[in-house]
Formats: sequence, C-alpha cells, structure tokens
Amino acid sequence: MLDTVFLIKGVNFPMLPLRLGSSDQFATVREFFGQAGYCEQAVCKRLGLGGVHEYLGLSETSSSTAPAEASDALEFLLRLFLVGNPASHDLLDGFLPKAVRESMESLELLRTDSAHPEQCYSPVVLYPVQCLYIASDRWKNPDGSSLPAGNDFVFPGIHPLTHDFLELLPQSPCDKFLDLCSGTAIAALLASKRYARRSWAVDITVRAAHFGEFNRLLNQLSNSTMMQGNLYGPVNGNRFDRIVAHPPYVPAMEPGAIYADGGEDGELITRAVVQGPLSRPNCDPQVLSSAPGQRPISANLGALALSNVRRLPDCRGPVPRHDKSPFHLNRSNLGNCRAIRVP
Ligand SMILES: C[S@@+](CC[C@H](N)C(=O)[O-])C[C@H]1O[C@@H](n2cnc3c(N)ncnc32)[C@H](O)[C@@H]1O
Repeated sequence: MLDTVFLIKGVNFPMLPLRLGSSDQFATVREFFGQAGYCEQAVCKRLGLGGVHEYLGLSETSSSTAPAEASDALEFLLRLFLVGNPASHDLLDGFLPKAVRESMESLELLRTDSAHPEQCYSPVVLYPVQCLYIASDRWKNPDGSSLPAGNDFVFPGIHPLTHDFLELLPQSPCDKFLDLCSGTAIAALLASKRYARRSWAVDITVRAAHFGEFNRLLNQLSNSTMMQGNLYGPVNGNRFDRIVAHPPYVPAMEPGAIYADGGEDGELITRAVVQGPLSRPNCDPQVLSSAPGQRPISANLGALALSNVRRLPDCRGPVPRHDKSPFHLNRSNLGNCRAIRVP
C-alpha cells in the first residue's frame, strides 16, 4: 500500500503518505519546529490571523505558491508545510540542519518533485494547533493548482468546523476519552495532552488512522491509542467517561466523501454515535457531538437529542451537496449546527 501512488500534474502523491519512523526521528523534527518558533501564536502573528483556523479563509493571493523564498526558519517552515510551496535544495540546505533534513526525508515529510528534481515539497500539510503539531492531507498541488480530494481525504485539523468542535469540548479532567470520527485525531491528542488520563481515536478510513498515528508519534503522546474501524466497533466492550464526535453530516443520496457524507438525511452517523452507548446496560458516558442540522434532527433522534441541545452561533441554511471540497463547510453555510449532549 505504501508504494501505491496517484499522479496529478506530474507530482507523485503516495496513497498513504508519511512513514511511521523512529522516536528519534520524530524528536528531531519536533525539536526543530520548537527551535524555529513554529507555533500557532507565531504563525498567526506572521500571517495576521486570530487563530490558525482562520488560515483557510485567507485569499489565494495572500499565500503565494512561488518556490519558497524565506527570511527566517519560521517563514521557511510556514511556506513549506502550511502554504505547501516547493523548496529548492539550496533553500533546504540553508534552513535545515542535516539531521533534521534526513529525519524529514525518512518520515516522508519531504519528497523530491519528480517533475522538477531541483526542488522538494511536502506531501502533506503540517501545522501547529494549540500545543500540537498536526499533519493532514494537502488540498493544493505544490504549483498552487487545486488537488481533487479523494473520498478518504484526511480532514484538516485547522478547519473552522474542527475549531468550533474543539471549542465545544469541556476541558475538565477525564479518565477514559473516546474520539469517534477522529480524522487527524486532534481531539483525542489534545485531550491526552491536557486533561484525559487516556484517549482513544477511531476513524473508519485507513488514511485517517495512519495520519492519527503519525500525529501521535510526532507529539510523543504515549497515553493515546489510534484505531481504524466503524464507530464503536474497534472499542467494543470498553467503557468511556467521555465520548466526543465531529461526524460527517452532509445529506448524500450516494456514497461520496467519507468525511462529509451522513447518509440520506445527513444524520446516519450522528444517530449511531448517540445511540451506541445507550444501547449498552450500565453505560452512562457523557456524549458530545457537533452535528448540523437540518430541522428533523431532534425528531429523528427522538428523546435522545432533546436534552441539552445547544446551537452554535452564526448558523444558517444547509450545506450544499454539489461541492466535494472540504472547504464549502465554512462558517457561513454551516447549517443549523448543534451540539448534542446525552444524557
Ligand atoms: C468531518 S471529519 C472530522 C474529523 C475530525 N474529528 C476533526 O474534527 O477534524 C469526519 C471524520 O469521520 C470519519 N468517519 C466517517 N464515517 C465514520 C464511521 N462510520 N466510523 C468512524 N469514522 C467515520 C471520516 O473518515 C472523517 O475523518
């Protein structure tokens, strides 16, 4: 699987980018990011953003895709890993100590562009969010042209909807934390870093589970476990104190993008998230799910959804179905987003 590639505009993107290398290689990269000041606060200051989740709202012109010139290591990392610019070998040699470059190459964070062997690019985007570094799928080619999202596209941890979801979660101490529909595993990893004794992340796609494991290793979190499968399937029999989900919820008449499609009424996954633990005896976790919503959500979920339904601000009509890009899910067309808390 690691050797499978698809070709777009002459650039080889592996189907499963990123290599789960040694802890030393992850430490070398993580420490270099720290020394270079590649943190959310500095990135936002440089880009004039209130938070890194505002990055996707920047206009195309403000994120030039010319081969990266950079005034310092922070700008270099920002262009290479967030904007997605290619970088010449000279530039890489100028900013990356040899050991860092070797570790990035071993982890497959850097690849030579086969169409332009004089330059390298990152096959993923990788950015600081709060106290973590998170990798997810690219949405642009290194030349700036758009990269069609595959059905198993790994949803960006800097998406405004992910930001809203994370904002919604309580930060109080918790023993066993379960993040369903985990994508990059950002919620589970933040919980493990900040307030949960142990976390689990479950996603149905192989790619998301792989990215989640890469992110876990990059952030050196030994109290978090990544699993691949359908909702509660991989953790069947385990009990959790807090279960959270940012599920797909776009109504879909036919299978499409896995990060978006929520069945015919958009609530297929949300229903299963909420109903799962309630069907088990003596199981009384706190379940928090950010979900959209079409008006029938409460009716469909019945009594399960009636308690503590909270509406997020700035919510309007339903999400359009025609655009498969993850970026139509912006705040202005979010739908009547709700948080559901059971019991
Ligand atoms: C909107 S994304 C949210 C990702 C992440 N939680 C975040 O907030 O950035 C929804 C995720 O749900 C996953 N997913 C869809 N159906 C699923 C299922 N039945 N079981 C587990 N994960 C599922 C998708 O692969 C995708 O990663």
